[in-house]
Amino acid sequence: MQEVINYIENNQQNYIEELKEFLKIPSISTSIENKSEVNRCADFVASKLKDAGMSHVEIFKTEGHPLVYGEWLGAPGKPTVLIYGHYDVQPADPIELWDSPPFEPVIKDGKIFARGATDDKGQVFMHIKSVEAFFKVEGSLPLNVKFIIEGEEEIGSENLEPFIIQHLELLKCDAVLISDTALYEEGIPTLTYGLRGLSYMEVEVTGPQRDLHSGTFGGAVGNPINVLAEMIAKLHDKNGRITIPHFYDDVLTLTKKEKDNFKRLKFSEKKFAKELGVAELTGEKGFSSLERTWVRPTLDCNGITGGFTGQGAKTVIASKALAKISMRLVPNQDPVKVAKEFEKYIKKIAPKTVKVTVKNLHGAYPVLIPLTDHSTIAATKAMEKAFGKKMVFIREGGSVPIVTTFVKKLKAPTVLMGLGLNSENLHSPNEHFNLNHFRLGIISSAYFLKEYSL
Ligand code: BES
Ligand code: MN
Ligand code: MN
Repeated sequence: MQEVINYIENNQQNYIEELKEFLKIPSISTSIENKSEVNRCADFVASKLKDAGMSHVEIFKTEGHPLVYGEWLGAPGKPTVLIYGHYDVQPADPIELWDSPPFEPVIKDGKIFARGATDDKGQVFMHIKSVEAFFKVEGSLPLNVKFIIEGEEEIGSENLEPFIIQHLELLKCDAVLISDTALYEEGIPTLTYGLRGLSYMEVEVTGPQRDLHSGTFGGAVGNPINVLAEMIAKLHDKNGRITIPHFYDDVLTLTKKEKDNFKRLKFSEKKFAKELGVAELTGEKGFSSLERTWVRPTLDCNGITGGFTGQGAKTVIASKALAKISMRLVPNQDPVKVAKEFEKYIKKIAPKTVKVTVKNLHGAYPVLIPLTDHSTIAATKAMEKAFGKKMVFIREGGSVPIVTTFVKKLKAPTVLMGLGLNSENLHSPNEHFNLNHFRLGIISSAYFLKEYSL
């Protein structure tokens, strides 16, 4: 095993050069113009899996972006690990806020800067390289490994779910290993056991049948932008609670034990506020920031458009206004049920002066993973060895939509062994990945494959 680790340590420079090639591909899944780049990225991943030593690699076309599958099943009698990740990335805009171009990776202060560096290309690449190190040094893996790397995570994994249901035998495994979350803090080995779910909605408000002169007509018709803003404001009460009826019905309350565990993490609200550049934090009354982001459901407007937003002034009442509103969900909320209640409530609070349409764009179920499976124990040992520190166990506010499908359909325990940091600007300008964590992630992955095979 030590030789595998030495090999990994000695090849860092090569790994970084290869990762740069991966990061240069603008695989933005939501952008239709980038379709061929997304395909090229799938080809890149497939070729890296082949080079790493996987015996069978296949690109599966879907109605959306392709899925990359790889397997090596040369360890009969040993368990099988399915490694999941995503090669798609978020759009790079606002591009003018990047210090260097998003698809021209640069290294500064031990970090690699590029869109997708931490979410999730850098983290996917760790596992490809750990597998490769085993093949180079030992000629085989200590257990069976399958990879499924998708290109639609950032748009809700819509085509992966049916693929899994249709390929239960192909994807059959004893555990799923995912690195698409964050460490609690720099240098601290972390296992995530909870993710929030999501319900993503679009609300369109239509007023007059055409744009109007705001002097001639202003004051006499419902202004869709004013109305939409008022409706959004009504979605929270003064205590920061969401006002949608039945919204909290299925929310699990935090146990005393978990509350105490959170306290032991010694989270600094002050440091958190400072890092975000805000004078004061806010949220649902009676909860800490960790509780607000990990175990409480929330609602946020993600974007709003309508009317005139160009340079200078234009006196107009727009015919339409549109808002993207998402809700982060916690166990045991159901995104389908929440979306229905949301639509009902929005329609109820809409004045008769406008027409309102509501669309449910996508959803994800919240996840809570019991920490008792052998895979969790193996991951703990692996990360503790790699980092030389004690593991901490956390929940996370973000979502990885497909995890529920792994748990429900493949009936496989899932390990969330993320190596990112929430301060690494994922989904925002100047995304980066700490290269020491990249190295420790490859080592953790290698130790995990070994530990889980025993
Ligand atoms: N890797 C993230 C989820 C994440 C973010 C985990 C931060 C841990 C810390 C993932 O790629 C992501 O962005 N998920 C989306 C899902 C959505 C687009 C369906 C999210 O959470 O917004
Ligand atoms: Mn991700
Ligand atoms: Mn993401």
